[in-house]
Amino acid sequence: MIDAKKLLVATLFGLITTSAVYAAGNEALVKEGRKVFVTKKLGNCLACHSVKGDPGIPQTGDIGPKLSNLNAYPKSYLFEKIYDPNKTVANTLMPPMGRNHKLTKHQIDALVAYLQETTK
Ligand code: HEC
Repeated sequence: MIDAKKLLVATLFGLITTSAVYAAGNEALVKEGRKVFVTKKLGNCLACHSVKGDPGIPQTGDIGPKLSNLNAYPKSYLFEKIYDPNKTVANTLMPPMGRNHKLTKHQIDALVAYLQETTK
């Protein structure tokens, strides 16, 4: 007979380790995204944006909107916004970081993770 208690303990342990691994993976992605955001040769996003929830970066970028509450958007919307902002705002000043091959898809995923985690 299956020991229900052991099964429950094993299931809970599985859930906890899975979410811990996920959290650690997300943390690394968030860190990488922040680096892309602030590095001039990469995203250089801070030239135009300040970020709610990250007082460690200069809050002087004011060509674009202050980035806040971005976890309200689906990830796919933010990815597209960074990959090719012209798709949502035809004459935007924001450069198309993916379409012009300035950033990889992985770097854009990292930016999305950083922005959603930081601005919520
Ligand atoms: C040359 C200035 C400029 C740069 C550089 C720039 N942006 Fe923007 N960004 C804008 C402007 C202007 C808008 C508002 C118009 C629009 O939505 O396209 C905007 C809009 C956004 C939005 C939508 C915000 C909202 O609340 O809807 C996001 C997200 C964003 N930018 C992220 C980034 C990221 C990440 C980078 C770096 C890879 C970046 N931007 C680089 C000018 C810039």
